[in-house]
Amino acid sequence: MLVSRSYLMSMQTITSTLTFARPDDWHLHLRDGADMAAVLPHTARQFARAIVMPNLKPPITTTEQAQAYAQRIRAAVPAGLDFTPLMTLYLTDNLPPEEIRRAKDSGGVYAVKLYPAGATTNSDFGVTDLRRCYKTLEMMQTLDLPFLVHGEVTDSAVDIFDREAVFIEKVLIPLRADFPALRVVFEHITTKHAADYVREAEGRIGATITPHHLLYNRNAIFTGGIRPHYYCLPVLKRESHRQALIAAATSGNPRFFLGTDSAPHARGAKEAACGCAGCYVALHALELYAEAFEAANALDKFEAFTSFHGPDFYGLPRNTGTVTLRREDWQVPAQLEFGDSQIVPLRAGETLRWKMIAP
Ligand code: NCD
Ligand code: ZN
Repeated sequence: MLVSRSYLMSMQTITSTLTFARPDDWHLHLRDGADMAAVLPHTARQFARAIVMPNLKPPITTTEQAQAYAQRIRAAVPAGLDFTPLMTLYLTDNLPPEEIRRAKDSGGVYAVKLYPAGATTNSDFGVTDLRRCYKTLEMMQTLDLPFLVHGEVTDSAVDIFDREAVFIEKVLIPLRADFPALRVVFEHITTKHAADYVREAEGRIGATITPHHLLYNRNAIFTGGIRPHYYCLPVLKRESHRQALIAAATSGNPRFFLGTDSAPHARGAKEAACGCAGCYVALHALELYAEAFEAANALDKFEAFTSFHGPDFYGLPRNTGTVTLRREDWQVPAQLEFGDSQIVPLRAGETLRWKMIAP
């Protein structure tokens, strides 16, 4: 679809539709094999590109693995949809600086991801001490390959609700003092501390914000019983933090952009004595974000957050197509097929007030 630049620059609100530049998802878990084939169509329908997380089992730690994974993703994109995966490498204590050069030279690897060891799903290979990675980080800074951080300390003595704030003081501030030119994305921020830090910090920093952290506070996990489908990491925080995230996302500040952190797990792995972390939002991410922006009376800031700030931060062209959401009630399915199991999407069985129009 050909659209003029002036048309793309300002989101049109015609009666009850929102037409805006095609967005990208700057933080996504696609998994692999049959699981990936089950979830990819949802993302490819809503987004033109996605930063694909490398936390497979085993993780993606080489350019060669990233390229092979990208090939599997491209082969699974349904006919008629146009979707480009943007690959990442998983930082370990042993990722050599030469691998960063290979990644950059390949043109197909867009970032390196930090999982502090033990922080979240499939993070066993994660970094035990960032000082072990300084040569590799130096190379990332030199070659300008962005560093995406899961911003939580893993010290079990630190309360789970404080892990992000402690990460800023103990890890992020020292890291950025040592690598002032390194481009950093503080992924899936969940607290006022993180929003304030990203807004005020010097240098090249951005942050992704998920739809669930914009829509829910931690009460959602404990409403009338334990609700495993609202459990993700970093865990939902109290209402004052949710409000700080809403303020950040709707501020128009280009440092804040869309990243769904859609993280599919089979129903049985969520509804368990020790359930996995992750919310599934790839099916209806744009509708969920629209609801959050509308509730904040900030739909005029929606397009910049969904479609402009992310590509601008990564230095990639903005997409040229558009997508449209219509004001229409519809019910989120109770479950979705996922290999020989199912996924329960966020808000399963409940009504949403925005609906994406085909494709
Ligand atoms: C993610 C997953 O399942 O891979 N889970 C989550 O709760 N967000 C991992 C992550 O991003 O922390
Ligand atoms: Zn994630």
